[in-house]
Amino acid sequence: MSVRPHALEGSIVRPPAPAVRSARTIGAHRTVPALAADPLGAFERIGREAGGEIVRISLGLFRPYLVTRPEHVQHVLRDGAGHYSRDGMLWKPLRRLNGDGIASDGPGWELSRRLIAPVFSGKNVAGLIDPMAASIAEGVAALADAARSGSKLDATVEMTRIVHRALVRAFFGGRIALADADRLGSAIATAFTSLGSRMLLPFVPGAVPLPGDRAFRNAVRTVDEVIVPLVAAARSGPADRSDIVSLLSSATDADGNTLTDRQIRDDVVAMFVAGTETTALALTWLWVLTARSPEVAAALRDEVTAVVGPGPVTRAHLPKLTYTRQVIDEVLRLYPVGWVIPRTVKQDDVVGGVRIKRGSTVFLSPYLTQRRPEAWDSPDTFDPSRFAPDRAAGRHRFDYFPFGAGLHQCLGSHFFAVEAQLVVAAMLTKYTPSVENAGEIRPQASASLRPRGAVTMTLKPVRRKRKRA
Ligand code: HEM
Repeated sequence: MSVRPHALEGSIVRPPAPAVRSARTIGAHRTVPALAADPLGAFERIGREAGGEIVRISLGLFRPYLVTRPEHVQHVLRDGAGHYSRDGMLWKPLRRLNGDGIASDGPGWELSRRLIAPVFSGKNVAGLIDPMAASIAEGVAALADAARSGSKLDATVEMTRIVHRALVRAFFGGRIALADADRLGSAIATAFTSLGSRMLLPFVPGAVPLPGDRAFRNAVRTVDEVIVPLVAAARSGPADRSDIVSLLSSATDADGNTLTDRQIRDDVVAMFVAGTETTALALTWLWVLTARSPEVAAALRDEVTAVVGPGPVTRAHLPKLTYTRQVIDEVLRLYPVGWVIPRTVKQDDVVGGVRIKRGSTVFLSPYLTQRRPEAWDSPDTFDPSRFAPDRAAGRHRFDYFPFGAGLHQCLGSHFFAVEAQLVVAAMLTKYTPSVENAGEIRPQASASLRPRGAVTMTLKPVRRKRKRA
């Protein structure tokens, strides 16, 4: 005979629902003055105080949530990504430059993402390596006079120049004149920086003039003068070219959709914005960090010398530059140039038992998560060997996310890794860099994580012993 308690007859026993609580708020009297004085330092202190808990940072009317624990980041970027969008005030000004394609959200983004993602496949990027390597070798060779005379260089400026030209080559093949490539680079940089006041004041309507508007309009005109004819030429040229704009021009999705010339223009500009400053800053940080760490610099040089010899660097060298790759990964752990990833909450949500309210903003920060002492030993120490393959075990996928994740995961991460390896190897086959102010350089939180002030680099030409006959 079985005994059935009446009270439970026909019902299912459920565990009690976990309590949902509101996020603790860190008050404006503590955040605002500190953020105004030293935004990144204050942001770090807030992160430390939160200790992995989801908190709200009160900035007056604006009260974003800060989410740092890897499992919570995974929810926002991947598992619960449907509750969040990349739309919102913070992104609005950028639309004036990038349009409504890959840098946006919604249907325009979906079409661009579907068509662009295959263009960045491993096979396509492999086809771009040798032309990019040639462009990088030219850019690096252009520093020879400065190296011979021992002139002081601004590392960010030089890395930007080299990266921009490599990107131009990958995007347009040989169809763009060097003068136009340089004009494009400075116009995109001006357009991006002159959006500064609109980014700080995103609620001001476009009809109300703000400083930077005129510089922005002029820069956009230059961008269009250079890019629009190149897109038209790619459209009318042979379809078998392997540069990115040609690939985009002939890309079709399963339903036969293609991108219009305007959409290609918008997406190319968006990718230049996404790919130039990020890559150049990551490389600049690499020279700063290796200058502070002579044993890493020596190991890096030894690997490049053993693998590449006197150069030139080619596609075949890249898989053997394993330590170089670890150095690059570690640079992006300590200085993830996309230091904060904002999202707008589309629908109420609960993350780790904390209520997240619709309409609010969530900040994710690779900078904070990637320095959590729970996940990384001596988190502030630059130690590329953390990324040795045998040390990855036990790490949460979201302990490290310099390229974001989920729907909007960076399309250029593989491209970046290739480009960065090429630049580092090309530089070290020719020069021994030193950064005299490496110890003093501090990060500054702007749209990207950039060094505060100039990084002063000098290069010494590498002298190789002649082989005896
Ligand atoms: C150090 C180098 C780079 C870093 C740290 C970086 C970082 C990121 C991050 C964090 C995102 C996600 C943004 C979000 O979720 O809202 C992103 C998206 C993106 N990145 Fe990168 N990126 C780098 C280089 C590049 C390069 C070289 C390209 C292209 C040539 C590129 C193209 C893109 C594009 C198109 C997206 C938007 C993807 C989408 O929304 O669907 N990035 N990147």
